[in-house]
Parts: sequence; structure tokens; C-alpha cells
Amino acid sequence: MLDWEELIKECNNCRKCGLSNTRTNVVIGRGNPKATILLVGEGPGEQEDKQGLPFVGPAGKLLDLLLSALMFKEEDYYIANIVKCRPPNNRVPLDEEAEACLDYLRNQLLLIRPKIIVCLGSTAAKHIIGKDIKITQIRGQWVEKKGYWIMPTFHPAALLRDQSKKILMWEDFKKIKRKLDEIKQSYKGDYHDKR
Ligand code: URA
Repeated sequence: MLDWEELIKECNNCRKCGLSNTRTNVVIGRGNPKATILLVGEGPGEQEDKQGLPFVGPAGKLLDLLLSALMFKEEDYYIANIVKCRPPNNRVPLDEEAEACLDYLRNQLLLIRPKIIVCLGSTAAKHIIGKDIKITQIRGQWVEKKGYWIMPTFHPAALLRDQSKKILMWEDFKKIKRKLDEIKQSYKGDYHDKR
């Protein structure tokens, strides 16, 4: 396992797949590196590739709005993606690109040690929960795996295309907030020292 400094250096020099040929920046993550919640998207889009940060484009603005409306604090979460380099024209990452990149996400998981993982959309859910899942069937239901509480939900970009998903995603995030509050409660006054 690499520490943060080593991991960032390795990601920035990564040439493990073809996405490295077309990227502007490697997008590693943003948020609290000791967060209770790890949110995982698909891969950087145009804005993310330019700025080197995840979820800073239109889908990111919507995600931030949802998180702040439900009173999540910035210290509660860290945001990353299945692949750290932008797929051309925002296509879905190929399995071999995701496979090449997933060790970096696993390393991030070991460093952050979250209690909750949120899969934003089917690409994240497929690589984290199982390749045969259908996001419309499993979203909103907790999956317990390897000691993590995993919540699959829609990708915020799906909401931009289809407003009817808004209420469902809102419900999913309310469940996540409830779980976060339970976890905080279980640590009582020691929450900030829990590590
Ligand atoms: N969509 C994603 O899946 N990730 C980002 O970082 C931005 C848009």
C-alpha cells in the first residue's frame, strides 16, 4: 500500500492504459482524506480533466447541491472515480481501463477507511458491487460487503437528463445521511478520534 504522497506521484505518472495519452490532468479525488463516506463516480469529464478535480462540472454542481441540501458537511466525504483519466468524448470506460485503474481506488480506500461507499451510477456499481447489476433494480438498497456499507444510486448526470430520477436520488441520499448520523452517534463524543 502506498501512502498519499506516493500514490499521487504514481497516479500522475501512470501509463497503464490508453487514457493516459489523451488526458490533460489525472483526477485523483477531492474532499476529506479521512472521510466516513467515499463517493465514487465513473470518470472525469471535460471540466474535471481541465481542472484535475472530480465532479466540478454540471453533474458535480448538482451533487454538491444535493449534499449541502441534506446537510452533509464537507468533512463527511471524499469523492473519486473508477478511472482517473478522462475517456475521450466522455464514453464509458472500457473494462480493461477500469481494471488498470482500480488498484489506485483500492489504495485510496485503504488510506481513507470510510464506513460508507456511494456508487454514483452503474459504472461505479458494476465495478464495486458486481458486473451483472442493473442500477435501476438495486439503487437505494444497502449492500454490506467487506465491512463497508455500500449504497448504489444514480449518477447525478442521469438527473440532468431525466428529472423523474430526482426524487429517487433524494430518497437514496436521505438513507445515506441517516446511516452517517447513526455511525456518528455510535461513536458518541469520540467521532473525531475514531481512528
Ligand atoms: N462524472 C463522473 O463520473 N465523474 C466526474 O468526476 C465528473 C463527471
